[in-house]
Amino acid sequence: MSRIVLGVAGGIAAYKACELLRRFTEAGHDVTVVPTAAALNFVGLTTWQALSGNPVHTEVFDDSHEVRHVKLGQTADLVVVAPATADLLARAATGRADDLLTNTLLTAHCPVLMAPAMHTEMWLHPATQANAATLRERGVVVMNPASGRLTGADTGPGRLPEASDIHQVALSLLGHTDTAASAAGQDLAGRHVVVSAGGTREHLDPVRFLGNASSGLMGLSIARAAALRGARVTVVAAHVEHPVPSGCEVRQVTSTGDLADAMTELSPSADVIVMAVAAADFTPASRAEGKIKKTSESSGLNVDLVQTTDVLKTLAHNRPRPQVIVGFAAETAVDDEDLLRLGRAKLDRKGCDLLVLNNVSGGKVFGADDNSIKVISPDAVVAEAEGSKTVVAHRILDAALAVSPR
Ligand code: CTP
Repeated sequence: MSRIVLGVAGGIAAYKACELLRRFTEAGHDVTVVPTAAALNFVGLTTWQALSGNPVHTEVFDDSHEVRHVKLGQTADLVVVAPATADLLARAATGRADDLLTNTLLTAHCPVLMAPAMHTEMWLHPATQANAATLRERGVVVMNPASGRLTGADTGPGRLPEASDIHQVALSLLGHTDTAASAAGQDLAGRHVVVSAGGTREHLDPVRFLGNASSGLMGLSIARAAALRGARVTVVAAHVEHPVPSGCEVRQVTSTGDLADAMTELSPSADVIVMAVAAADFTPASRAEGKIKKTSESSGLNVDLVQTTDVLKTLAHNRPRPQVIVGFAAETAVDDEDLLRLGRAKLDRKGCDLLVLNNVSGGKVFGADDNSIKVISPDAVVAEAEGSKTVVAHRILDAALAVSPR
């Protein structure tokens, strides 16, 4: 259980913080909500108290004998501000201490995460951009707002990222100051990261396909982590069972053939390519136009399969520019030595720069929240990580950045 302070600033997106709060409390965390006075115009004190199970205050002097403004920040494991309005970012960047939330921000020793939400013009204004940059320089993780429909008819960047995304980022920061530092440092700013995720489907006929058990969680976690670290991210999504993180561009694909087309098109602009997708190695030699019917004469169905393009190998051997290419290998190995032996042979065969190895003997990994991986280069094991897929995602990106040509 961690102690989380959830700061809520005064914007219409304040109601979405209720969903975030619910996620934190359901995960067993002790959450103290600190709304600004303006936030109470959108969601009232009673709601925050009922949902968090803790008393809620907005001002420093509500209950002065407790010296709340110092204690809250000092004892928190994580401070999350969602939504962070333009005004809150400005007050935090200039070190104002005019309410309980800004006091808490000044006394916090733990990672601080801010999820902005405001009108597009306000987010893009040089003043707000400078405030976000100042906070990031000081180690605060400021997410980029999502794009989409805002209040009224406007669209553009400024929407509060989805509660599920803020929640994932928050979990990755809890107890991980190194992750907070990479996210705050925006160390992937200016880079285009292309991540393929999920599992491809090879159709036999309009209703049947050959698929696999990949949920897409690992690839989507890498996409979310890269976006948080400032990259422009394109997700090439085969069948995925989770939403694509807000802030990422998406290309939907079905088969390995579609994947090959999309990746070839994106490769010339990619600085980092991560092939987390489980791509089918075989596809039916022909696809029936109509649904294949049972017949009284035949007792079974023979399907001719042909090999698909090895997308990773093709990308690695036809690089239009200097870039880092990361492959994945799920192997059923008897032990670590066996895993590394299989991995080295695959890395050599594929020609990629890094290969992320996981041992899937016993059906582990697929759909699970946790993962245990080793990242190898042609010469060495360059990283090992165990834990949530979010934490693992950051370590994979660290390894990619370390071998990046620029
Ligand atoms: N991959 C690919 N194109 C394919 C198959 C796989 O790009 N047609 C990529 C996957 O996205 C992954 C890597 O290659 O990054 C390794 O996938 P894996 O299935 O382990 O490789 P295979 O070459 O199919 O090896 P194996 O014979 O062990 O299945």
